[in-house]
Amino acid sequence: MNSLHTSLPQIAVLATGGTIAGEAGDAAKTSGYKAGVVGVEKLLDAVPSLSQIARIHAEQVASIDSKDMTPALWATLCTRVNALLGQDDIDGVVITHGTDTLEETAYLLHLTVKSDKPVVLTAAMRPSTALSADGPLNLLNAVTVAAHKGSWKQGVLVAFNNQIHSGRDITKTSTYAVDAFRSPEGGALGWVQDGQVEYQRAVVRPHTLNTPFRIAAELPVVEIVASYAGASRVAIDALVAAGAQGLVIAGTGNGSIHSTMQQAVADAAKQGVAVVRSSRVGSGHVMRNGAAPDDALGSITAGSLNPYKARVLLMLALAAGIAPKDLQSVFDNY
Ligand code: SIN
Repeated sequence: MNSLHTSLPQIAVLATGGTIAGEAGDAAKTSGYKAGVVGVEKLLDAVPSLSQIARIHAEQVASIDSKDMTPALWATLCTRVNALLGQDDIDGVVITHGTDTLEETAYLLHLTVKSDKPVVLTAAMRPSTALSADGPLNLLNAVTVAAHKGSWKQGVLVAFNNQIHSGRDITKTSTYAVDAFRSPEGGALGWVQDGQVEYQRAVVRPHTLNTPFRIAAELPVVEIVASYAGASRVAIDALVAAGAQGLVIAGTGNGSIHSTMQQAVADAAKQGVAVVRSSRVGSGHVMRNGAAPDDALGSITAGSLNPYKARVLLMLALAAGIAPKDLQSVFDNY
């Protein structure tokens, strides 16, 4: 081992599956393939120049299509990330993930990883066997970002299509485009290209070491219900009867809720179910007592968190035993 090699940072690459590890029989195929089948060593072999950026420690944590992500796997992943980052010889972690639930995992880890070291998720829209597969360059860029000193204390990051996003803000906005992710309100934190990393803004809300949240293998049951033309209260009543501890409403516009659902929200809140109003719009934020009377309904507003991210925060807040009267300030802070 030469001295250049030993002076390189050591980055742990944890693979969980996804399209980045997908395989199709036909290189022209970018849909209808099987996600999560190619092992981490083969993903790394496709990027020989990684050895000039970092020493790689590789682990296969899972091999799933991320639509099948579970709280138990989140717990396994977060526990492993925390253990690796606790080692003096690991300088950062990269996680390869499917794009479909990446925004949920990224936000969950942003709130539950307990380290200042970089954690960077990446993914791909095209399977590893595709013409112009995007996975290898995304992986190279993710390791570049994880090895960069400016990535410390930024919480969990996502490196995708040459951009760097906060795990809090990023959301998938295209079913097929290689440029599939956006951070709708704040935009990307920066960019990575040809080995260079530049940050253009910093993460301001608390994360990682500065949250009270801890990962657990079982999280409280929180479900999502959409409001739409002709919506009824049937879904809310059924979920409350089934024991849901929290509900996120994917409301119309500024989190507005069909009048036929509003009494169900008030009834659920009265029974001790935490109800959060978010929006199905995809960008913007939901104002307290704006499009619905939260004080009267007993509901909480999600701010700029989309329904899927609001669900992650509500599960963690309920698991942390945060009192109902303090839940709004949790959503205002994180
Ligand atoms: C997945 O989320 O695992 C499949 C889709 C993708 O990674 O693009």
